[in-house]
Amino acid sequence: MLLLDGRICAQECKKKLKERVLADTALGFRPPGLAVIMVGDDPASAIYVRNKEKEASLLGISAQTCHLPRATTEQELLAHIHEFNAASDIDGILVQLPLPPHISASSCLLAISPDKDVDGFHPNNAGRMTLGLPGLRPCTPQGIVELLSFYHLSPAGKKAVVVGRSNIVGKPLAIMLAEPLEYANATVTLCHSKTANLAKECRSADFLFLSVGSPRMFGRDYVKEGAVVIDVGINRTKEGIVGDADRAALEDRVLAITPVPGGVGPMTIAMLLKNTVKAWEQNR
Ligand code: GUN
Repeated sequence: MLLLDGRICAQECKKKLKERVLADTALGFRPPGLAVIMVGDDPASAIYVRNKEKEASLLGISAQTCHLPRATTEQELLAHIHEFNAASDIDGILVQLPLPPHISASSCLLAISPDKDVDGFHPNNAGRMTLGLPGLRPCTPQGIVELLSFYHLSPAGKKAVVVGRSNIVGKPLAIMLAEPLEYANATVTLCHSKTANLAKECRSADFLFLSVGSPRMFGRDYVKEGAVVIDVGINRTKEGIVGDADRAALEDRVLAITPVPGGVGPMTIAMLLKNTVKAWEQNR
C-alpha cells in the first residue's frame, strides 16, 4: 500500500512557487499580496487562517489577515472586500468559510473580483471551470489532481466515485476529474446523502474520493480491492483528527490512500499559494 504524502508533494509545489516569486521580485516586481478575511472566532477557521498566512509569508507573499468580529454586518464585510478589490498591491482575496449565519456567503463571494478570487468560488470562475476555460480553480480539487499527478496515478479511463456534493470540494472535483486532461479523463459518479446503495457505488470505484465529514465511515464494505482512496475528511474526534476512511481497515486492501492529517490538507494550502502567484503574474 502506498501512502500519498501531501506534505512532501506540497513542499515540492511550494519550492517551485518560491522560485517564481524570487525570480520576479529580483527583477523589481512588488511581492504578491494575499488578503485573508475571517469573521468571528471559529477555532478551526482560526487555525486554517493562521496556517495560510504563515505559509504565504514563507514564500515571499505579503499576507495580511483582516480579522473581523462576529457581529460584523454584511455591508461592513462587503466594504472590506471592495477595498481589497481596489488595492493595487493585493492579488488574492480569500473570505474564510463558514461565515456567521447573518451574512450571505454567496453575496460576499460574488463581490470578490474574479481576477483576485484565489479560492475559485466566484460564479465566473466556477462557470469557466465548467466550460473548460482557463481561470482560477478551487484549491482542494486542484490539490487532489496535483497529488495524483505527483504519484503518477492517473484516473484516465477509470471509474471515479466522488462522495459529497459541496461547492468547495465534491461538485468542482467531479467536474475537474471529467476534464480532458492527463490526470483526469475519468468516468465520474457523484454521490451524496440521497444516493441509493452508497456502498455499492463506492465499491465500483477505481478511484474513490471521500468528502463527507463522517469519521472513519468508509471501511472494507465501501472499497474495491486495489482502489486509490483520496480522503478529504477532517474530523475532530477524542482520538484526534481522523478522515472519512477507516484507514486501519483498508491498509491491506487499497493500492494507495491519503493520510489524515498530512494528505489533502497541505495540498489545499499549496494550491491557494499557487493561485495567488498565478493571479499576481496575470494582474500586476
Ligand atoms: N473553509 C473550508 N475550506 C475552505 C476553503 O478552501 N476556502 C475558504 N475560503 N474557506 C474554507
